[in-house]
Amino acid sequence: MSLQSRKIALVGGGQIGIALALMITQKDHAEVVIVDLPGMVDPIKGKALDIMALRPHAGVDVEITATSDYAEIADAEVVIITAGIPRKAGMSRNDLLEINKGVIESVAKQVAEHAPNAFVVLSTNPVDTMCQIFHKTSGFPKERVIGLSGALDSGRFRLFIAMETRFSAKDVSCMVMGGHGPAMIPLTRTATVGGIPIQTLLSEEKIEEIVDRTRHAGTEIVQLLGHGSAYISPASAIMEMVEAYLYDKKRLISSSVLCEGEYGIDDCFIGVPCVIGSGGMERIVEMELTEGEQTQLQHNYEILQENLEKLE
Ligand code: APR
Repeated sequence: MSLQSRKIALVGGGQIGIALALMITQKDHAEVVIVDLPGMVDPIKGKALDIMALRPHAGVDVEITATSDYAEIADAEVVIITAGIPRKAGMSRNDLLEINKGVIESVAKQVAEHAPNAFVVLSTNPVDTMCQIFHKTSGFPKERVIGLSGALDSGRFRLFIAMETRFSAKDVSCMVMGGHGPAMIPLTRTATVGGIPIQTLLSEEKIEEIVDRTRHAGTEIVQLLGHGSAYISPASAIMEMVEAYLYDKKRLISSSVLCEGEYGIDDCFIGVPCVIGSGGMERIVEMELTEGEQTQLQHNYEILQENLEKLE
């Protein structure tokens, strides 16, 4: 019997799933149930036991279980989906389209049956399209389906600005919109350090370099790792989104959400600024874009529509 009153389910106990289990434990947020394929359950039980052995050192009481039985996610307040295949060096996120579609369809049916009231966060790539598939298959309302994109991408944008300016990343603020892919839109005009526009701190060339590095940060990590893809920064960014929901923080976090007319986008999950609180994705915030930014967003929309057409 767990000491925790709330439950978070992790569907996928790979690199990101285990990093999430560790972070949830360190913050003593909730009981954790990890669901994975039957052949993966024992190794995940081993990792879970290793994390639970933190309890005496960290003074926390989180219970982690590993299973292949979705019945155990019943009553989960939050379901985080990382199940699927990560990309290898030389692959784009869109190369995972077909294979991860099947995974998300089967997961969506199970989540709809066993945790129909959960807030669902997806990270499986290509994440915008996977959100669309989850939303359609599960029948969940759009407020409870959200994908990891801007939280991670703007985190990387902030890091690179901090590294170049040598100020604390905590004081860097900025936004990335669009799809979670190389066409994403780091909005340089929104970037500040402690309220000071980065244009007064960095040259135009340096800003362009940072934009380019942000767009390809995931690929940079994949190439350096040689095996698997980024997992610490995705897990940390997911935690920010989940905490905003659990503690009703009304955070403004750019995320992959279903647009129905906002920004001229219809029936498509794409990264836009939105408010996350106890109502889930509570509302999309529509800011005025320049003509150039709107053109880039339209280009992202077209890429995502092509993905959906490929799957039909
Ligand atoms: N049901 C449950 N779990 C599954 C299923 C399924 N149908 N198919 C695969 N899995 C599990 C795998 O067994 C593995 O444990 O999903 C886990 C994925 O873990 P990793 O391969 O380590 O991938 P990870 O780095 O965690 O990334 C997961 O998030 O950011 C994205 O591109 C990334 O699509 C990838 C996903």
